[in-house]
Formats: sequence, structure tokens, C-alpha cells
Amino acid sequence: MSDQALETVSEISALRKLVASRRQQGATIGFVPTMGALHAGHTSLIEAAGADCDFVVVSIYVNPTQFGPDEDFERYPRVLEQDLAKCAAAGANLVWTPDTSIMYPDGYSTDVTVKALSRILEGATRTNHFQGVTTIVTKLLLSCLPDIAYFGAKDFQQQAIIRRMCLDLNIPVEIKTCPIIRDTDGLALSSRNAYLSAEEREAGLSLSRALRLAEEKIAAGETDIAQIKASMQQLLNATPLLKLDYATIVDPTTLEDISTAQSEMVALIAARVGTTRLIDNCQLTPAPAE
Ligand code: PAJ
Repeated sequence: MSDQALETVSEISALRKLVASRRQQGATIGFVPTMGALHAGHTSLIEAAGADCDFVVVSIYVNPTQFGPDEDFERYPRVLEQDLAKCAAAGANLVWTPDTSIMYPDGYSTDVTVKALSRILEGATRTNHFQGVTTIVTKLLLSCLPDIAYFGAKDFQQQAIIRRMCLDLNIPVEIKTCPIIRDTDGLALSSRNAYLSAEEREAGLSLSRALRLAEEKIAAGETDIAQIKASMQQLLNATPLLKLDYATIVDPTTLEDISTAQSEMVALIAARVGTTRLIDNCQLTPAPAE
């Protein structure tokens, strides 16, 4: 936690100057990229950065290129004053709010794509979503040049893709993935939960229930992944108002399907409730051998 007042900048040059001067004083730099509408999931990343690093930068930017034409870019919540207060309370030192004219200057024509990983799961229905994410995250990382960047396990595929990208492009930033923060009823916190009616929210609880079911089956020694997937899908398909996209169990690094329980695996779920798309996941650890 820092005793410095929170500063805000929008120009990349101002960001670089402040970060460079801190680095010159020997500070380690932590970076938390966000799209704002901050909740306890985001602030947990800021706190994790503050625990590891001397100087914590948060970016707030609703990145247009990661939204599809029919998605919620226009109605995505924008609440900067509240976000700044939350950043200050969580111990951030600097908030960077770039403008689109800076991030996508006139004539912009460069993209960063992580090929296979971006086409499956979320990428299968959200075409170009991950290309938008990897392009902006590259730009954010290159502008801030932190030692460590923090991402949430909530967007499991996103952090897997960003890890692959940093390896492939030799981006010298350590990626840390922090645990999912949930509401007391089990719903993973998301800025998009604000769109849910009471009935829709109840339906949304089936995602964390299905994940718990998978955890229980693995803990009880089930190794047949098809069986576990079938029970998750049954629970989700029986939920009124919920339209299941996928409920699967994959390798956490390659995100490829697995058929038998292995030492590391992750259950991933995506579903639509009304017009809101919800995602959730949990890492699974097999029962110890008898
Ligand atoms: P955003 O949805 O604002 O999320 C910012 C970070 O907060 C992401 O790393 C996300 O995984 C994490 N996060 C969201 N909900 C969480 C929860 N319930 N628990 C823990 N962490 C949570 O993800 C993005 O923005 C964008 O794609 C971005 C990386 C900023 C690029 O535009």
C-alpha cells in the first residue's frame, strides 16, 4: 500500500515519464489493465499488485476493437469518478485513461493475433474478440512497460492467450493470474452482472453450481471427463432462461479438450442469460491416488 496520492494521466508520454522516474528510483512497477466499472474483482488485482510492487498503474479504457458489432460497447458502464475512488482505496498510484485517438490513431492498421487459442471457446462465437484484446494489451504493456501485469482467472482464456502472446513476442513482462472473486451467492463478479434482472441472476447461479458439481465429481475420484461434462451440461440445460454455449474441461495451457482427468485441468462454462453472456470457470485438482 502506498502513501502517495493517486495521479491520473491520459497521454502515453506522461505515463512513460512517471513510470521511468519511479523505475529510476528503484521502484518495481505493477500494472492492472481494466475497462473500468470496477468491482472487487478488479480491486483484488490492484491489491495483489500493491503487495508485490512499489508502484501500481491501473489503465481504464473501454477498448472498441474487442467488442463485436452486436455487443455492448455503447452501453458498457462508464463511471470514471467512482473508479478513481476505488483505485485510490485499493492502493493504486497512477491511473492511465488513454483516448481512442491515442490507442487507434488515424490510419491504424496493425493487429496482434494469437492464432489457434483465439479461435476456440469464446473465440468461436466472439469472432475477433481476442484479436482486439491481444492488440490492446500489447499496446498497453508497451506503453507502461511494467515488471508484472495482473489478470483475473475470471477470464481464463484471456489470461492463457496473453501468456502465450508474451512468450511468443518475447514481451519482458511477468504475467500473474489472480483468483476469481465471487458474490456471496457464488456468482463471479462481472461488470456485466449489472444487466441481469433478479430472475436472470438466479439463472446465472447455475454456472457456479455446475462448476461445484465438477469439483465434487473430481474429488470423488471420477476420471471420465465425458461423464463430468454431461452432468454439468444437464444441470445447465435444466435452468430456465439460460442458453448454454459450452461447458467443458480442458488443459489449462493449451485449452485443448481432455478425455481423462489429469494433474491440471480447468472447467470452463459460457452461457447466455437473456441478452447477457456469462462466463465462469474453476481449476480442478484430481483426488489423490489411494
Ligand atoms: P475487464 O473486463 O475490465 O477486466 C479487467 C481485469 O479484471 C481482467 O484481468 C479480468 O479477468 C479481471 N476480473 C474481472 N472480473 C473478475 C473477478 N470476478 N475476479 C477476479 N478478476 C476479475 O478483461 C478486460 O477488462 C479487458 O479484456 C482488458 C484486459 C482490460 C483489455 O481490454
